[in-house]
Amino acid sequence: MPEAADDGGELEPEFTPSPQHGMARQAEEALEGIDRVLVVMSGKGGVGKSTVAVNLACALDEAGLDVGLTDFDITNPNTPRMTGLDGFQFEGQGPFEPPRLGSIPVASAAFFKPAEKSLAWRGPLKQKMISSLLGRIDWPDLDVLVLDLPPGTSDEPLSVSELVPTEKTRAVLVTTPQLVSTEDVALNFRFAVTVEIPVVGIVENMSPFECECGREHAIFGEGGGRRLAEELEVPLLAEIPIDPGLREGADDGKPIVLADPEAASARALRGAAESLAEGLASDT
Ligand SMILES: Nc1ncnc2c1ncn2[C@@H]1O[C@H](COP(=O)(O)OP(=O)(O)OP(=O)(O)O)[C@@H](O)[C@H]1O
Ligand SMILES: [Mg+2]
Ligand SMILES: [Zn+2]
Repeated sequence: MPEAADDGGELEPEFTPSPQHGMARQAEEALEGIDRVLVVMSGKGGVGKSTVAVNLACALDEAGLDVGLTDFDITNPNTPRMTGLDGFQFEGQGPFEPPRLGSIPVASAAFFKPAEKSLAWRGPLKQKMISSLLGRIDWPDLDVLVLDLPPGTSDEPLSVSELVPTEKTRAVLVTTPQLVSTEDVALNFRFAVTVEIPVVGIVENMSPFECECGREHAIFGEGGGRRLAEELEVPLLAEIPIDPGLREGADDGKPIVLADPEAASARALRGAAESLAEGLASDT
């Protein structure tokens, strides 16, 4: 990659300067010390991507990896609240020191000053913020940066495929059990293949739970994640039951894998993290 010459020096003939280029290069430099970017995505909204991302980061940290967490959810970033870092603001121009949840450095679009944020994000502004979340953060060396995406398959996941080299990227797809979700996530899988984001597993969330009444309730159906994983030939990493404690932990900024590690949902999340940690260690 040729160096951009601000001083009017020699440029490679094929190099076309563009405003995006400097930011892409900053992001590329930031990624030098980051081995893997683990993208948590779903074609479907509200299925628990942010909750899964935050808890996976905590569980991967507990499994002994050096973990960071950021969201590329520019319009509705939820990771600050879910990590207890709501209200944090970066000072100055950066590079910014990320605040931490325990030992995990965390960044979010919400941490930038209002002057750098918009209420109506057009493509180029969004692109700039996304690049900033990599390139203007002083990320330490990491085994894995967990990245929480908004729903769907537009600007944000496309930015991942543009900014992060395919060999560093791994994606987890989150679905709920019912067909209305698994169908969207199947399309999301095809999108990931098209843009060369390797999918390492499916997480089913809001799965059936054991009730105090002694019965199991399947509010959103059951088995959809398993069927989808079989159809797509990717591992099913977890079935996370519906659990009010998981929701409370998200609202209180105390991820359940830390707050109540023996809860069924926490055990499922830890299981997913252990499989991922093994996979990341063996795939070079
Ligand atoms: N297994 C679960 N049991 C109970 N509540 C859950 C569970 N998983 C997630 N939730 C709750 O469901 C809501 C939606 O979760 P979350 O915000 O993580 O979804 P999302 O997919 O990131 O949404 P968006 O598409 O808006 O980004 C949150 O209030 C969260 O606490
Ligand atoms: Mg979210
Ligand atoms: Zn019941």
